[in-house]
Amino acid sequence: MSGGVHEGRLRVELGERGYDIVVGSGALGGIESSLQEMHQVGARRAFVVVDTGVPEWFVDQLVADAKSAGLQVIIAPITPTESVKTIATYQELLTTIASTGHSRVDPVIALGGGIVGDLAGFVAASYRRGVPVIQCPTTLLSMVDASVGGKTGFNLEVSGESQVPNGDGSMKLLKNLVGAFWQPSLVIADVDVLDSLDDRQRRSGLAECIKHGMISVGVGHDGLLDWMIKHLDSIVAFDSAIIAELVERNVSLKASVVAQDEREDTSKQGGRMLLNFGHTFGHAIETIGHLSPTADPSLAPLHHGEAVALGMVAACRGAQVYGGVDSSVGDELCTLLQRVGLPVGVEGLPANEELVERMSHDKKATADSIRVIFPTGRGRCAVVDDAPMESLEAGFDAIRG
Ligand code: GLY
Repeated sequence: MSGGVHEGRLRVELGERGYDIVVGSGALGGIESSLQEMHQVGARRAFVVVDTGVPEWFVDQLVADAKSAGLQVIIAPITPTESVKTIATYQELLTTIASTGHSRVDPVIALGGGIVGDLAGFVAASYRRGVPVIQCPTTLLSMVDASVGGKTGFNLEVSGESQVPNGDGSMKLLKNLVGAFWQPSLVIADVDVLDSLDDRQRRSGLAECIKHGMISVGVGHDGLLDWMIKHLDSIVAFDSAIIAELVERNVSLKASVVAQDEREDTSKQGGRMLLNFGHTFGHAIETIGHLSPTADPSLAPLHHGEAVALGMVAACRGAQVYGGVDSSVGDELCTLLQRVGLPVGVEGLPANEELVERMSHDKKATADSIRVIFPTGRGRCAVVDDAPMESLEAGFDAIRG
């Protein structure tokens, strides 16, 4: 991306845990002054968890900035897959950071997508009972969602009694079952790095943007869905200026939702739980290893955004059965997803019984019922604690290719 694109600074208003999010072209350059401030209060090293897919020039720039700020830099590379996001990797990172003499004022820096951000964030949350973390997301998905709000953690692998059949005898991953809320001290979303993403990664990020559009009116960001529809051709073409503005608008929504409900209070009928729209259905299918967006086995498994896209369609269709939401809500969603190139159906789904069982293993399941987020109208969703079985099955049937 070239210069001259949208640039902004937003704040997550969380009192003493509040922080800035810097969005724009060249934004990473601003990290040096933040690290200098940390150096002035005693920081001597930075533990940088790096996604191996991040372009070298971007890593080099961060390392140079950290060194200029007076910090020794320790790099911990991770090749991110959901099966790497486990306790074994967490343990390795802890062992490495401990061996460097990392102190309580030294920062962890996450340079990568959501998997790196979640793991590095949890290392920061737990090492020495908490050290600062700076999130530098490098994918569209992590810029607009995962890097903001302090959710950190890893997937739990289970087997034996608690194993949900995976079809291939492999261990079942319970997504994000272990973790903590640990707010970053700064988020830097430098949109220049998005040039390095392939089309599939871009589309995956757009799924989370569309998710925000689907809840936008209900959380006071009325214009987001229409803005995205108006600029969809430029968004699909990944026009620099539009993408920078897309990131800022989405981050703005996420920041305001988090500011009102930092820890996803389950007694609230709204708030941060609404950000899980599409995720309970989506998580049920995301870890089924043989599924692919086009039934081409070489594209399996589904990417997170693809699973969320399918999960949103299932939720819309399930909501038609549950609460009679107008079919136009799901129809508009499908049109949007298809224009972006995201799937609205998938071949090879297991039986509904197994899928519902998988949903109940999602961490958003309550003790004796499955909590889902269903749309109630255009741009509005609600938490449903007692979704009847037929609405869940209707959802899965709607995406069965
Ligand atoms: N990704 C949903 C949340 O941060 O709450």
